[in-house]
Amino acid sequence: MIDYNSSLSGDKDLSAILVIFGGTGDLTHRKLMPALYNMLLDGLVPDHLQVVAIGRRDKSEEEYRSEVRASMDKYSRNKVDEKIWSRLNDMIRYYRFDFRDHDGYSDLKTYLEELDKNSETKGNRIYYLAVAPEYFETIVLGLHKSNMVKTAKGWSRLVIEKPFGKDLITARQLNQKLLEVFEEKDIYRIDHYLGKDMIQNIMVLRFTNSIFESIWNNKYIDNIQISLTEKLGVGTRGGYYEHSGAMRDMIQNHIMQILSLVAMEPPVNLKTDSIRTEKLKVIEAIEEITPEFLRDNLVFGQYGKGVIDGKPVVGYREEENVPKDSGTETFVALKLHINNFRWAGTPFYIRTGKRLGSYGAEIVIQFKNMPNLLYFNDNNIQEPNLLVIRIQPSVGVFFQFNTKDFISHHGIVPTKMDTSYESPYQGNTPEAYERLIYDILRGDSTLFSRWDEVEAAWTVADKIIGYREQSKVKFPNYDAGSMGPIRATTLLAKDGREWWNI
Ligand code: BG6
Repeated sequence: MIDYNSSLSGDKDLSAILVIFGGTGDLTHRKLMPALYNMLLDGLVPDHLQVVAIGRRDKSEEEYRSEVRASMDKYSRNKVDEKIWSRLNDMIRYYRFDFRDHDGYSDLKTYLEELDKNSETKGNRIYYLAVAPEYFETIVLGLHKSNMVKTAKGWSRLVIEKPFGKDLITARQLNQKLLEVFEEKDIYRIDHYLGKDMIQNIMVLRFTNSIFESIWNNKYIDNIQISLTEKLGVGTRGGYYEHSGAMRDMIQNHIMQILSLVAMEPPVNLKTDSIRTEKLKVIEAIEEITPEFLRDNLVFGQYGKGVIDGKPVVGYREEENVPKDSGTETFVALKLHINNFRWAGTPFYIRTGKRLGSYGAEIVIQFKNMPNLLYFNDNNIQEPNLLVIRIQPSVGVFFQFNTKDFISHHGIVPTKMDTSYESPYQGNTPEAYERLIYDILRGDSTLFSRWDEVEAAWTVADKIIGYREQSKVKFPNYDAGSMGPIRATTLLAKDGREWWNI
């Protein structure tokens, strides 16, 4: 659910024209339009919002609207109510235009200005780049040359999806281009994980519960595990994934963001920059990553064929648009240290992978055991206290603690307290986009990545990717349906630990 109490910053006028470059693409149909529909349903869309979908294909407004209507049936999390749909239908315009053609921007500008006059959108613009990253610069330059950014009467915001560059150098170059046209405060870099409820809940859990925050440090926490595991393979995205791999696809962005939220210091207030500054410090405090360290603490994997949910699936190299000798990783497991007073000595284990035996996103906080002197269970061990923040598919918090074993009347048993529930909306939830679009409209960039966060994350990711390119791992090295390469298990076992699959 949308949290109306979160911090507001910037302009609160919600009237705007949302200009979607890539209006006929997958993202628009699957996420953006359904998000707008559900926002309308929840009363979160201002009366004066207009949506201009830009596409290259020749089609009438009516044709486009009926395509979106069909997507709504497939992807909306709520059943489509015709009355609400007709309101969205009326807001949507289709504008045919090849955004690579810089001469066409002035016509687009005139078109948007006309729309302003008829719709009271006050010159406010959101330019949403739902296109392949190689077009980001072209579009931003086109907007700039036609004075569609800074001279607009209202405000202009730019929204970009990942990947933000393919390494530190390209990310810096791209950022430089964007900053020549937009101010940092007007750039919304989407990391859809930040739109997920439980990710936002991390700060609430930590900073409103003294029982957690007082022991949230290296004195009491043995280790922290962050796992984002998927059963899905790369599907039709082989072309993109081949140049991305799990490092660029999941670690550089989603996992780094989660790590920051789990490990950050309390911000002085809930202002966007106060939060982002604390998050940044975490990434900056990651212990120097050397090739020697990576040799022992990093595991790359690529899936071979196997069985998922009883069905045989092909290996990564047999997927569409993937070379037969691909060296791209579909799995990463890594140990990291955050070298600051709170965390020195407590390892963070992170892992992500495709075509694994289980699907889920969760953070496991394993507390240190008490001295093992008084009570034991039958195996003569004390189960640790575990706090699990479940992001998906269940959403909520799980806590494990020890109690007396009332059945055998001797020893202790772990008791499990679980507040989580099965979310009906799986994965890349539409709600995440609802929340994010709503925040863009009201000018709150807290749930988006600031440039220095992206830069710090690339600094870390680049070292790991560089190491990957030098080291020769024999792929494929795990079967689809398993939990990754054996070395991922040894990574923890050699420290006397294990991955918790709660
Ligand atoms: C995307 C990645 O950012 O996140 C995908 O590009 C991945 O490869 C997806 O599948 C996972 O998101 P979610 O919300 O389904 O966990």
